[in-house]
Amino acid sequence: MTLTRRDHSLTGPESAVAIERGLSDAAWFQPSIDAGVLRELQQRSDGRAARDTVLWLALLLVAAWVAWWSLGVDGVIWAQAIPAFAVYGALYGGAADARWHECGHGTAFRSRWANEVVYNLACLMLWRGPTLWRWSHHRHHTDTIIVGRDAEIAYPRPTSLWRAAWMFTHIEGSARLITRLARHAVLGLDADARDLIPEHDRRRAVWEARTIVGLMLAVVIWSILIGSIVPLLFLGLPTVYGGWLMVFFGITQHAGLQADVLDHRLNTRTVMMNPVLRFLYLNMNFHVEHHLYPSVPYHALPALHGAVGDQLAPPLPSTWAAYREIAGALRHQSQDSEWEIPLQVPDVPGSSHERIDVGEQLWVRGAGAQVTLVRVDDLDVGEVRRVDRDGDTFVLCRVSDDEFRLVDGMCTHARVHLAGGALLVSGERCELECPKHNARFDVRTGEATRAPGRHALRCYTIDVVDGRVVTDFSDQVDHDALGERS
Ligand code: FES
Repeated sequence: MTLTRRDHSLTGPESAVAIERGLSDAAWFQPSIDAGVLRELQQRSDGRAARDTVLWLALLLVAAWVAWWSLGVDGVIWAQAIPAFAVYGALYGGAADARWHECGHGTAFRSRWANEVVYNLACLMLWRGPTLWRWSHHRHHTDTIIVGRDAEIAYPRPTSLWRAAWMFTHIEGSARLITRLARHAVLGLDADARDLIPEHDRRRAVWEARTIVGLMLAVVIWSILIGSIVPLLFLGLPTVYGGWLMVFFGITQHAGLQADVLDHRLNTRTVMMNPVLRFLYLNMNFHVEHHLYPSVPYHALPALHGAVGDQLAPPLPSTWAAYREIAGALRHQSQDSEWEIPLQVPDVPGSSHERIDVGEQLWVRGAGAQVTLVRVDDLDVGEVRRVDRDGDTFVLCRVSDDEFRLVDGMCTHARVHLAGGALLVSGERCELECPKHNARFDVRTGEATRAPGRHALRCYTIDVVDGRVVTDFSDQVDHDALGERS
C-alpha cells in the first residue's frame, strides 16, 4: 500500500520521466476494423449535427425564457425561478461541454465553419480559451492519463474524497478557469500553457483570454449599473451553477482507471446511457471508442461500438453502475495510490494497416522507373492505403474514379501514420484527416489545412497505366510556393 503523491504539472519532473519511459507520443493499441466499415463511420453530416445543435439551442432559449418569466413582474420570486435556472444552467454550463468537444475535433459538422462557430461559442460559455484548450485536448489524446503529460487528469492519487465530491459544485473549477484566463489576459501565459501551445499560437491565446475576460467584465458592469444580478444569472454564472452536469459526464470518462498505460481500453470507460443523457452528452459515453478513433463523429460512435466492442472491456451497463465503480475505485485509491480496478480486456492482436510494400525494387530498376502500387480495381473510391518503400512511407488515396494521389505517410504534427485517417471529399476540397488529432492536409497540394497540422506533406507524381496505379516517387509540386514544410 502506498500513498505516494505524484507531480501532475506539465513542467515538473514527471513529464521528463514519462518521456524517458517512452510513454509520451507513443503508439497505442488499436483494435482491428474493416477499412471499408471505418471509412463509412468516418463520414460527417451537417444535417445531423445541425439538428442536434438547433435542438440544444432551442432548449436553452426556452429554459431562458421560462427562467426570465419566473422572476415575475412585481419583483424577484427566486424559489419559483430555481428549477428553470437549473435547467438553463445545465444546458449552458454542462451540455455545452460535449458540443465544445466534438466541434473542437472538427467532426460534428461536415462544414468547417459550423464546427468553428459552435466551438468558439461553447468556449465562451465554458470559460475556455479556444486555442489553449485545443492544444490541451490534443495533448490529452496524445498522452491520455500519462502523469506529467496530460493536463486533463481529474483525480490525482491518492484521491481526496472530499475534493472529489466538492468538484461537482464546479465552484473551484470555474474559479480556476476565470482566474487563469485573467492571468493570461494580464500577465501572459503560465508555464503549463506555454508547454502546451506552440510559439506561433501563443499570441492568439492571450488575445482570446482578453476577449473572454473583457466580455465577462462587461456583464459584471451591466449587473452593477442596473443593480441586479439577473444579467450574470443568464451570462457567466451558468458556467458555475450549471457546471455540475459537465463534471457528472466528465468523471465517467477516466476516473479510477489506469494511469501510464498505452491502451485506451485500460484508462477509458464506455458507459451505456439513456437517450436523454446521450443527447446531452453527444454520445461521448462511448468514450473508449472515441479515443480509439477520434475521426469518427459522435453520431457514429454506437455503430463503432458494434464494430469493435468485442475487442474491448465490457461497457458499464448504466450510469449508476459506472458511478458505483468510480466511487469504489476512488475510495480504494484514497488509501492506496497504486490500487487499480481489476479489468479484463480481450487478448486480441490489434490492427495493422493493410500496406503496399514496394521494397527496394525502384533501386533495382533505376531512377525514373515506375513501380506499380495497386491495380485500379483493388482500391475503392475514398480508400487510403499505406505504401512503404525501403524506409520511406506514403499514403495512396483514391479521390474519385480516375483521381489518385500519393503523399507523405506521416503526419507533420506527430509520429502518426495517415493511413488510418479519413479521406474527406467536399466540393473542391479533398483532405486527408489525421486519425490522432484531426489535422487535415489537402492531398492535391499537400498543404496543411487544419491545426495542429502546420507543415505541408510532399506530394508525388502518380499515373494510371493499363489499369494499374504507378509512380516513380518524384516530387509533384513546388513546395516553396506553399511556404512551410516538414
Ligand atoms: S499526429 Fe496530431 S494531428 Fe496528426
